[in-house]
Amino acid sequence: MLFVMNHPLITHKLTQMRKVDTGTKDFRQNLDEIAGLMAYEVCRDLPVKKVTIQTPVIECETYELTKEIVLIPILRAGLGLVNGINNLIPTAKVGHVGLYRDEETLMPHEYFSKFPSTMPDAINLVLDPMLATGGSANAAIDIIKAKGATAIKLVCLVGAPEGVQAVQKAHPDVDIYLAALDEKLNELGYIVPGLGDAGDRIFGTK
Ligand code: PRP
Ligand code: URA
Repeated sequence: MLFVMNHPLITHKLTQMRKVDTGTKDFRQNLDEIAGLMAYEVCRDLPVKKVTIQTPVIECETYELTKEIVLIPILRAGLGLVNGINNLIPTAKVGHVGLYRDEETLMPHEYFSKFPSTMPDAINLVLDPMLATGGSANAAIDIIKAKGATAIKLVCLVGAPEGVQAVQKAHPDVDIYLAALDEKLNELGYIVPGLGDAGDRIFGTK
């Protein structure tokens, strides 16, 4: 399933991020805030169990989450989504997968990975602001499935139709959440209209 957030707050914040003149501080802050807003929707179907608790007034039946959440940012740019979600889910564990996209071939290359041992039983949120060709997201999902992850959601800020189709084809079991679905990729593999190189804009490396 593909979920595209249509919410004025998210769209407004994303518009600030898209502007070429937006600096690192504001870019990061808007990303952080959107991540929190998206988490609300991404977590809508989390499993809960019935529990009996004592309030100061009465004993009552209510619900608690049953599954651990693991956040898996794709380095580097995925790191920009971690804090906003972690603020809402402070018990979440964090795994990391390091991938960079070769500028010529656009193929992803793995350079690091480290995951919590609870990943196979957890709900795993793979985080990356950009879903362009889908190569990085597919590689990250391949890697965590090989480590036993089964419940996986992909959370991105901006996606291109090409990337969405690539992930849906390779991993039809993975739900995709986007703040916006853009028009296309350009000849350099950048999302159009997009927001440029997310990693460089988050970390100020260009
Ligand atoms: C960017 C982005 C994604 C990837 C998307 O990362 O953060 O991981 O490109 O492109 P794809 O869908 O075509 O794979 P990049 O490789 O530039 O690394 P960085 O995050 O370290 O800047
Ligand atoms: N990676 C980015 O950071 N931006 C794009 O537009 C495509 C891939």
